[in-house]
Order: sequence, then structure tokens, then C-alpha cells
Amino acid sequence: MGTATHNAMSYFPIGNTRPVDVTLGCQVDKECDMLLLGCGDVRNVLHTIHELQTRGTTKSKDQTINIHLNDIEDSILGRDLILLYLAGTIDPNNSEDLKFLLGVWYDVLLSQEHLQRLKQVMKRVSLVQSGNNGVYFGNMKSEVSIKRALLGMEKFEMNGKQMRDTRWEFLNSLYRTNVPKLFMDWSTGQMVRPKVDLPQTAVDWITQRVSAQCGRLDKVQRLKDRYHQEIRDYITTGVTRVNLQSLSSKRVVDSFSGNMTLLRPGWNIWTVPDDCCPYLSHDIDLELHRYDGCKVTLASLCMEMLKKWVECFQAAMEDGCILKIYMWLGEATEVCEKDLPESLRFDFIDTSNLADKIGLVSVLSCSRNRLKQPNGVLRTESFDYTRLKGVVSVERYLSGCIDVPVLMYPTVFGLHLAEELSLGHESVPPTQFPLRTKLTLKWKTAREQKNLTAITLDEKASDAVSAALEKVKTCPGLDDQGPLGHVIKACVKSATENILQRVQNFAKATTKRNTLIEYTDHYLVTIQTDPECLKKGTVSMDCVDGDPYVMVLQNSHNGQSSFRQTLSLSCGIALNTSNVKVSRKRGKLKLVLSRMLT
Ligand SMILES: C[S@@+](CC[C@H](N)C(=O)[O-])C[C@H]1O[C@@H](n2cnc3c(N)ncnc32)[C@H](O)[C@@H]1O
Repeated sequence: MGTATHNAMSYFPIGNTRPVDVTLGCQVDKECDMLLLGCGDVRNVLHTIHELQTRGTTKSKDQTINIHLNDIEDSILGRDLILLYLAGTIDPNNSEDLKFLLGVWYDVLLSQEHLQRLKQVMKRVSLVQSGNNGVYFGNMKSEVSIKRALLGMEKFEMNGKQMRDTRWEFLNSLYRTNVPKLFMDWSTGQMVRPKVDLPQTAVDWITQRVSAQCGRLDKVQRLKDRYHQEIRDYITTGVTRVNLQSLSSKRVVDSFSGNMTLLRPGWNIWTVPDDCCPYLSHDIDLELHRYDGCKVTLASLCMEMLKKWVECFQAAMEDGCILKIYMWLGEATEVCEKDLPESLRFDFIDTSNLADKIGLVSVLSCSRNRLKQPNGVLRTESFDYTRLKGVVSVERYLSGCIDVPVLMYPTVFGLHLAEELSLGHESVPPTQFPLRTKLTLKWKTAREQKNLTAITLDEKASDAVSAALEKVKTCPGLDDQGPLGHVIKACVKSATENILQRVQNFAKATTKRNTLIEYTDHYLVTIQTDPECLKKGTVSMDCVDGDPYVMVLQNSHNGQSSFRQTLSLSCGIALNTSNVKVSRKRGKLKLVLSRMLT
């Protein structure tokens, strides 16, 4: 068996954040396409279906939902197939079935009964044909690799002791060397030296993170003690309370076997970070009032959530909604740029915290051309703030990723933020070790460049973009020296090239008579017309049909107009802070247009 160290590439078969509704609560079209890049486990798929079913969307006969899953690891997608197969076939009213699903999803060790059942499921899933049960392999490469990974898992066995030892070795290494030697406690302003004493340190960290998500748990000391004990049991035995029941740690190690879906095939060592656990990947807040630590445990609340997901997943398939799930194996940017069918576009792209792995710029660049126009929405997430030294603002995060003004994002990325930065982001709390702040941003496509009035970049703006891209090439904040360094560098290279190409395309077509120059915070437009048109009357500027992206400039004299110019811009314009200067003699108009953020 190999040696587990935290330096080995971490494996994420279990989510470490709460589930997300990929549709973000938006109304969806009759044919809705979703793409989950770096999807990890299938909690976001099941949670989204649950939300759509609750909202009635999937109950409609002519509704089609296409969900495209991508991950760089074949075994993660293989495991997703197993979990989806179980979600589609188990009986949600049978508690043994639910315990089995919970076990496969979260338990490090499985009872012999669960293990045998899992092996049968693996065999069946590895024979599945593309298109059966609504699951499709995006391409041959995905099908071959995912099936191979499934067969590899099915053949592999590890007894309870070996599994416990490799997991413990990894956690020891993780805690002993990954803990900062000193860290700032932002509440006291003191530097603190953390002690490492397993399993207590692990219990402290995980309970702190759970408590940060579900503050109410700590209010009653009796309940606090119980949930701390439940988490301690999970850390020490690797088995959730519903499957552990009253078995001792020794009994479990002696009679249970390793859950091979939690090991990367061929590695035989545990590499799953400590925060990949059910308590951090389920939204149990609303049911916490029922928690008593005995009959209702954290694990039983998670199992109830799974039951609801399974019920909705099965109901959605039975209700006549067409639900198709596609599997795309590969590096996310490559899948977007090379593997997906040329014309495939998405209403929703979710990227988990891929931005922490390959950089926000890479994620924006590869997703941009995969969004439907004009309403496609992209979600990015990041919780890697270590470089920001605790004090967090969205602006600092963004400028840490790429140092260009947010107002230039439509030009640079072809995307703009879908919400005001000040909305809901005013008080992003500082990252306070061992807690992490998750920053979610939503993006929409900017208007198609080909439909916009041609612009020139102001020299300073152009230099700013070039300098920012040079900095992006150094992979700021990314682990480009780690085992996935080559992947990160390739993603960043491709992203910077795409952006450069985009920006260069702008340089093309401005006419001599009219110029539209993009500055970092405004546009300067110069229009040359026949001086006769401007000699008399007034000149006005307005949005066309209330659209702040399209401006019409025209003169008016005795109710007649002899001059009219329309401008289509990549940012909305704030009319109240924009102005027009008219040089009547020379027939020249100079417009300073203030740009809006969203
Ligand atoms: C972004 S990671 C982090 C864990 C995540 N927060 C969660 O809760 O699952 C999630 C998944 O992304 C995958 N991944 C990492 N880098 C990738 C890449 N460049 N392309 C595609 N998938 C990637 C990992 O294999 C993992 O399964």
C-alpha cells in the first residue's frame, strides 16, 4: 500500500459545500440545458431536480431538462453514475435502501451486506448503454474511461483496518503539516499557534465549520455535546450514525470493509480531505429544531434529505418530463473548447469552486461561449482567500484574479456580473482559520461583439489589459507548482490567448468619421455629421425601448429630425451622468457616456 500524505492530489468524491440549485431559482425554458463543470458528487443535480419538482417545473409534460456533468476524474463520474442509478432505483420508503445510499455516499467503511450490494450495482452500472435510464456518455473517451474506472473499483477490496490506517495516515499528515504554524485570530487580533492532537483537532475543526453553518446547534449545551460526539464518531470510525448504530470502533474495523468508491482507482490510498463529509454538504438548518442527538441525528437528517431527493428524482422521471444526464470526462476548459458539440449552449453553467483550481479567468474564458444568448447565467465560487490575508472584499478578490476594472469585463471576458457588487456582498466576512468564506458570483453574457458599435480601446485601457494579462500568466494564487501545475498552466495560457484575441478583434473596425473609445470607466464617442443638421434645434440622447445598452442620438427642429445615430454598447449607460457636447459649426458631437456595472 502506498503512503498517504496530504501532498498527494486530493480527491473529492464527497462535496465540501452545501448543495446549490443550478438554476439559481430562475424560471427555466421548456428545454433547459445545464452544465456542471468540475461537478464532484451529484448533490447539485439531485438538489436542482428537487427544487424544480417542488416548483412544478418538472411536472409539465413538454419539459426537457438536459444536465451535462463534467469532471477531470473518471472515477468521480463513475461514482456519480452509481449514485444516480441508486437515486433512480431504490425505494425511498424503505429505510434499508436509504441507509445503503447514505453508506455508499458517505461511509468510509461498509458492512459486508452493503459491500456485496454495492458490487452488484457496480457491475450493472458498468454495463449500462449510453441512453439507457436517461444517462448518456458525451463521447467514447468518457464511456470507456468511466466504465474502466467502475470495473477497477468493483474488483478492488480493502479491509477495514487497511482503510482506517490509510485514512488516518492521510489525516495525520494533513493536520500536522497543513495547519499554518501561526495564524491570525481576527476576533482578538492575536497570532495563534494551533495545537494538533488527533482526533480532537479534527473534531474541533469540523464542528467549528458545522457550527458556522448551523449556529443554532450550539445554543443548547446538551445538543452541542451530542453533535460533537456524533462528529467525533464519524471522524474516528468513518461511519455515519445511522449505519454505525451502537457498534464499537473496533467491531466496525474488524467486520466492515473499505468503501472503494472513495478511493481513486489504482491508488489504494486515502486522499479525501476532512471537510468532505455529510455534515458540510447538506442543508440541514431548517430541520434542526428536530435534532435531539438520539433519535434524530445529523446523519438521519441528511438521510431524510436524500429521501426527498430520491422521491423528486423518481417523480420527475415518471411525470413525463424528459430528463437526460450526459457525462463528459476531461479537463473543464478542454471539454468546453473541444469536446462539447459546436452548437451546444447552456442556460446555466455551474462551476463549483473550479476557480480555486484553475483560476477565475480560465473559468470565465471557457464558459463564455457556452452560455446561451442573452439569458445564460454562469455561477462561479471561490473559498480560497488565503492570499487575501483575511480581509475580504469582492473587489479585492476580483482584482487579485485579474487587475482590470470591473467595467471592462464585457470587453475583456464578454461577460458582466449579473448583480451589483454591493448587493449581498457588503460584508463578506474575513476568512478565519479554520473557517472559510465562500464567495459566489453570478455572471451574464455581455452582448455579442458583432452586434455592437465598433470600439477602440483607450491606450491606457489597452495597456491595463495587457499588463493584467501578463500578471494572469504568472498564475497568481494558484498552485501551479503542485501535481496539477501543468493543467493550471495550460488553462491559463488558453484563457489569456482567448482574451487577447477578443481584445484585438475590437481594434478592427472604427470609421474615421465616428469613434467610440472605451476608457476604464466611460465611453467617449465622437460623431461627425453634416454641420447643416446641427445648425438649428436641439440634440437629444435616449435609450431605445428602455434598453440602457442601446442609445439613440438625434436632432429635432420643428418636430423634424435630419440626423439620427444609434449606438449599441457592451455596458448599460447611466443617462443622468452622461453628457453630449455639440459643436454646431463643425457638425461634431462629443458624448461622454457613464457606464453601469450590471
Ligand atoms: C472543484 S473540486 C472541489 C470540491 C467541491 N467544492 C465540491 O464540493 O465538490 C470539485 C471537482 O472538480 C474536479 N476538478 C478539479 N479540477 C478540474 C478541472 N480542471 N476540470 C474538470 N474537473 C476538475 C475534481 O475532480 C472534483 O471532483
